[in-house]
Amino acid sequence: SRRYSFVVVANRLPVDRTDDGWTRSPGGLVSALEPIARGAHGAWVGWIGVPGDDVEPFEHDGVRLLPVQLSAEDVDRYYEGQSNSTIWPLFHHGVETPVHRRAWRVAYEEVNRRFADAAARVAAEGATVWVHDYQLLLVPAMLREARPDLRIGFFLHIPFPPVELFMQLPRRVDLLRGLLGADLVGFQQSLAAHNFLQLSARLLGLQPEGEQVRYDGRTVTARAFPISIDVGEIEKLAADHTVRAESRRLRRELGGDRTLLLGVDRLDYTKGIEQRIEAYGELLDDGTISNREAVLVQVATPSRMRVAQYQQLRERVEREVGRINGEFGDVGKAPVHYLFQSRTREELVALYLAADLMLVTPLRDGMNLVAKEYVAARSDERGALVLSEFTGAAEELPDAFQVNPYDTDDLERGIAAALRADPADLTARMRRMRAHIADHDVNRWAQEFLDALGR
Ligand code: UDP
Ligand code: G6P
Repeated sequence: SRRYSFVVVANRLPVDRTDDGWTRSPGGLVSALEPIARGAHGAWVGWIGVPGDDVEPFEHDGVRLLPVQLSAEDVDRYYEGQSNSTIWPLFHHGVETPVHRRAWRVAYEEVNRRFADAAARVAAEGATVWVHDYQLLLVPAMLREARPDLRIGFFLHIPFPPVELFMQLPRRVDLLRGLLGADLVGFQQSLAAHNFLQLSARLLGLQPEGEQVRYDGRTVTARAFPISIDVGEIEKLAADHTVRAESRRLRRELGGDRTLLLGVDRLDYTKGIEQRIEAYGELLDDGTISNREAVLVQVATPSRMRVAQYQQLRERVEREVGRINGEFGDVGKAPVHYLFQSRTREELVALYLAADLMLVTPLRDGMNLVAKEYVAARSDERGALVLSEFTGAAEELPDAFQVNPYDTDDLERGIAAALRADPADLTARMRRMRAHIADHDVNRWAQEFLDALGR
């Protein structure tokens, strides 16, 4: 069977198997990687998003997709358990309490082995293999053991926690050794790379020299590569007639002269959705905002709904939305439009174009591509971005209205400042943010990573 000189390995394939056939997989990892994989004509090893079926390799948009099979028990233990109830909350600096179970950890290792074996089988001699994200932390070392001829890169799409937090993980040294199997370990922010190097010193006594450590007779480099978006794709959608018509329809529908505030997130406790809605409620309550003059649309895309912490978040958010709509709404005029739905890229760009204020207020986020997509969509140089300091994007976008989402007063101050800002100031800010994003798109990100890996 065929072998490939460029192989992506990620928990998810770019498409999911659903009742309507193959649809785009959720989340920022796929948004960013899909255009890169398409351009590279490589292979992509990943899961189809549902338990069970053994699916044959197939072609999608010029990429060879190689499905890895997960049983219902694997999904329960490796995906919902160790990946999304242990590592996800811990790596997001413990914004929810991580849960530790021995059976999850064992399944995580087994499934990581399956991904590593699949990649080892399809990689050509001397190939570049690029492994992604927190679900597959053990894969680089497993792959190196099987195939020392490969160039192995790893990119972590989420934050990397401070040493003291990482130290809580059972068998923490295995995870660290897993990552050290790579030649290059990429992070969203320099703080994350720094945490990783410090951890190597603490757990293994390695002596970092700049951004490198010597391990097992090799050099491993840890560096920040802030991920980005396919700017061309978003700009094309933003110029599309159907998308623009839809954007006008949305504004009419919501009451044309009302200021539109928008949130777009997977329904995840890292995203600060509760804090945002609560702040909006307080602004209505103290009269800073009136329901006649403004409206909040919150897209909350269903995500990981079998995990208890996500179900509880959904209940809390929906109760708060109900309370605010009940207290401040009127017949035919709700203050919060809450959509527990997944939206297509076209629909999202129509919303971005319609929104006066984009609210991106995570408690912790590796990057946050929604913030960058909003900026890229606004070729009219209008609109404002309210952005949490605790996102990777904040480091690149000082012209956003930056807020501390834990501080309700500060969150409200940021929203109010953006609402009151002078249009000329907003245009100047948007222009500078657009220039930065245009110059740092996802192709540059991938090229810089792969250049560093090749060297
Ligand atoms: N997205 C989407 N439909 C939705 C919600 C989100 O297509 O209903 C996309 C969004 O355009 C973005 C990605 O999912 O490209 C979310 O990436 P981000 O980095 O903001 O957050 P993540 O979900 O990866 O934590
Ligand atoms: C984030 C993670 C990705 C993940 C995505 C969607 O972007 O970094 O690895 O694929 O969320 O989450 P899901 O659990 O549905 O794959």
